[in-house]
Order: sequence, then structure tokens, then C-alpha cells
Amino acid sequence: MYVVGGSASQLLSKELANCLKAKLAKVEIKRFPDDECYVRIDEDLDGEEVFVVQTTWPDRNIVELFLLQDAVYEFDVSSLTTVVPYFGYARQDKQFLPGEPISARALARLIQLNTDEFVTVDVHAPSVVDWFDDVSARNVHAYPCVGRYLKGKGIDLVLSPDEGRADNAKRVADVVGCESDFLVKTRLDGETVEMAPKSLAVEGRKVAIVDDIIATGSTIAKAAEQLRRQGADKIYAVCTHGVFAKNGLEKLRPACDQICSTDTIENPTTCISVASEIARIARE
Ligand code: R5P
Repeated sequence: MYVVGGSASQLLSKELANCLKAKLAKVEIKRFPDDECYVRIDEDLDGEEVFVVQTTWPDRNIVELFLLQDAVYEFDVSSLTTVVPYFGYARQDKQFLPGEPISARALARLIQLNTDEFVTVDVHAPSVVDWFDDVSARNVHAYPCVGRYLKGKGIDLVLSPDEGRADNAKRVADVVGCESDFLVKTRLDGETVEMAPKSLAVEGRKVAIVDDIIATGSTIAKAAEQLRRQGADKIYAVCTHGVFAKNGLEKLRPACDQICSTDTIENPTTCISVASEIARIARE
């Protein structure tokens, strides 16, 4: 069994290989002077069960994924599972206006052309896996890994920044062994959100705000502001996918005591691996 790691998912590929007791394939990945991508797998994958791991964000990583899949299928592999830890474009999972594409579907259709199975993690709209109509597709949850990490931090309360993700906060809190609650968020535009006032039992307590994605950081910044006003002692901002667009990380640093994300997107806040959950699902 081999894990082939794309350049966007090096840490996770290594961890996944450990968890699966698989070999980490030697792969050469480079860019031509015109920025086109070149990949070469320096292993014999004939007869092997292979996992290709590559986040599809930003865009240049999508092409790299297609090349890795194609290179794997040049061998006579026994199976190929494509793992996309962070599925870019998942937020455009429907037509909001006439004339738009369904971007998540466009990606799904292309990815499934060259794989036997597909796995992603905390995909923004779970319905996205339904666009994989030719291959088995699964969405893995990060909450067990996030919960185990927060348990070691002595968190008193796990908070979702909106009601829509309250179930996820509850699942994390159950692993931690503490309470959960949610805030009431309204999104005004891509970079602006409002939090309705809500009285929370946070005074002198350690609170973790848990979300699927931190994009611009506006959601967490507003949530943290409200928690500080109400006297929270420590604020942890935790997400599965740390995108941190538009200097999102710099915006959040003063607002939170710690910012933490998983290895679905490798960035300076990555401190939790989702490899064990992917491996668990892969063995089922
Ligand atoms: C929204 O539905 C998501 O769960 C996140 O709350 C959102 O993507 C975060 O975006 P931002 O960091 O730009 O506020």
C-alpha cells in the first residue's frame, strides 16, 4: 500500500502513511518556467492499493491532483483512492444566480474520472459527495481529532459561531467532556458578519470557538469580541480548514489566545492531524 502526497498535503500524507502502515511514495513535483506542473512517481505501484492525497486549493493544486491521478493509473494498481482533504469550491454547491456554474459539481465530475474511491474531510456542503455518482465518495469528520486536541487544553465550553454548526460543536464538546452552545450569526457580505447579542456563561472560562472553515476570519473575530466582552478567560479558535484569506490570520491573532487548524490545509496554525480519521474510514 502506498500514499502519494501532493505538494499541498505533505504533512497529512506522511501521517496517513503512518496510520495505514503504508509506504510514502517518492514523488517529484516541480514547475516548468511557464508554471505548468510536472510530476513523476519514482516507485513501482503495480498491484498496489494507492492513496493520492491533495487539497484542491488554491487552483494550481487542482491540476497537480489530476496529474498525480493520471500518473498512478499509468501503473497497474489494484485500487486508487483520491483523498481531497480540503475540497476547494465546495461553497458553490448550487446556482445562486442564473448563468453560474455549480462549481463543486464541476470539480467532482473531473476528479471521479480517474479514481476508484473518493474521500474528503468536513466538506462545506455534505451534498457535494453526491456529485460523485460513478465512484464511492465519503465525507470524513474532523470532530474526533479536534475534540481530543481540546480535551488536553481544559476547555470549559465549545461554541459554534452559528446555529447551523451547533451539532458539530456538540460533538466536539462530547469528546472534550464539556458543554456546548452557539452564537447567532448573520452574514452581510463575503467579508462582513454580525453577531446577535447572546448571554453566555463564559466569565472566567476557557472557551473554544469551533468552525469548519476560517476564511477571512470575520466570523471568529466577531465571536471572540463578544466572548471577551462577556469576560471569557481564554479564547481558542479552532477550525478544520484554515484558509486565512485576506490576512485573516493577522486579523485574528490579537483577538484569540490560540488559533488552531487541522492539516487539511497546511499553514502556521496547523496543530491537529485528521489522518487517523481518514485511515479509520479507509479501513472500513
Ligand atoms: C460558514 O458557513 C462557515 O461555516 C464559516 O463560518 C465561514 O466560511 C467563515 O468565513 P469567514 O472566516 O470569512 O468569516
